Amino acid sequence: MLDYRIGFKSSETEHSQMNLVIAGKIPAWLRGDLLRNGPAKFILGTYQVNHWFDGFSMLHRFSFIDEKVNYCCKLLESSALKQAIKKQKLCSEGFASNPGYNFLPRILNFSTRPSDNDNVNIGIFENTSLAMSEGITQLQFDPVNLKTIGQFIYHDKIRGSLTTAHPHYDHQKKEVYNFTIQIGPNCFYNLYRWKVGADKRDLICKIPAKNPGYLHSFGITNQYVILIEQPFILNKLEFLFLNLPYIKNYLWDPSLGACFTVINRFSGEIVLREYTDSFFTFHHVNAYEINEKEILCDVITFKDSSIIDAFYLNNIEKLNIPMSQFRRFHIKLNERMINIQPLSSHSLEFPQINYQEFNSKPYKILYSVSYPNESTFFNQLIKTNLESGIEKIWAEDGCYPGEPVFVPNMPFSEEEGVVLSIILDTKNGCSYLLILNAKSFTEVARAFLPHMIPFGLHGIFNFK
Ligand SMILES: [Fe+2]
Repeated sequence: MLDYRIGFKSSETEHSQMNLVIAGKIPAWLRGDLLRNGPAKFILGTYQVNHWFDGFSMLHRFSFIDEKVNYCCKLLESSALKQAIKKQKLCSEGFASNPGYNFLPRILNFSTRPSDNDNVNIGIFENTSLAMSEGITQLQFDPVNLKTIGQFIYHDKIRGSLTTAHPHYDHQKKEVYNFTIQIGPNCFYNLYRWKVGADKRDLICKIPAKNPGYLHSFGITNQYVILIEQPFILNKLEFLFLNLPYIKNYLWDPSLGACFTVINRFSGEIVLREYTDSFFTFHHVNAYEINEKEILCDVITFKDSSIIDAFYLNNIEKLNIPMSQFRRFHIKLNERMINIQPLSSHSLEFPQINYQEFNSKPYKILYSVSYPNESTFFNQLIKTNLESGIEKIWAEDGCYPGEPVFVPNMPFSEEEGVVLSIILDTKNGCSYLLILNAKSFTEVARAFLPHMIPFGLHGIFNFK
């Protein structure tokens, strides 16, 4: 009997242009490409990487046209992958894996770190498609044939060793917001704006940090950017002088609490810095202003950073995934207060909303995966209605869903449309793409893959 563990096995065969067998009926209005990114190649010769997040990236494209689904997948041709294939071993430092001891102090070793294995997310910024991770090097690829084009270079002086794989995109203004994290004797979070197509990014503000916290995502409203400095802090001397895998430079210190910094996204002025009790987070869900001086900031939180330990490949035999809590942080700028409210009784991850139309705005629907206890991998899709409190669940025996992506069928709707999710079906050792009616949260169709796709991370729907 196969189980969730096959989702952490290498599956590195590339496929080009195959029509998938469909059960059910694909909606005729659904036209465009679901693009996905995630770790796929975990083995190099006799060497296995240490962690789920260290697998080499595979890009996937599910193309919907005329009620059919065409599929292809291709390994991201990072320099990290090319070197590793050539030498049949890991040659560059990853998230939690490294090629071994290097006697050269880190500061004399000029290769980027972590490597350019951008296996976390995908950004489609008009004609620029990027594979992204927390490493500073973003790789551009062709969204049709998935071929890697090369490093995407900004011709500016904004420095940093790290960034986030979750930039925000203002679709109307065609502007991308993100941070770089600059590590040196003095460390900074550099908040920038990139007007898509421009040669350079604009530095909005530079926030000093004694020991930067691990940063995976952040919040944005019409006026503000919300940076949460969590107490999983970087030892900058280790980062600069030792050759530890990137995440091994961080230390959990709950005595520090979590620091909310609210920045005016236009002027760069810091309007609030306040602390809450400690928590760990990967994912912001949404944030918006309810009036000029109050912000709601919704985040998936964990009590500590142990979820990172849970996904070392040595630990997946016996899962111990800490339970998450979906929480709302009500930030009162005048009173310098942050009130906290739970928003779901379920443990959620990989949160998705109708991002293009509801990010930075009041919203009511969240799609995510969930899990019932610490020893079960994500085995449900869940739709949470924040107004009514009603939650709808999709689940099937032996099946493990990936991040759900909502595709709307009409403007300004959070429920009229479909939800797409790659499901690992351990009953037959293959994956399929599930298409749910977003409103009823019931199955519309599924498209069968001839192989298993390892558990992925994030993706995006690109309309045509
Ligand atoms: Fe993420």
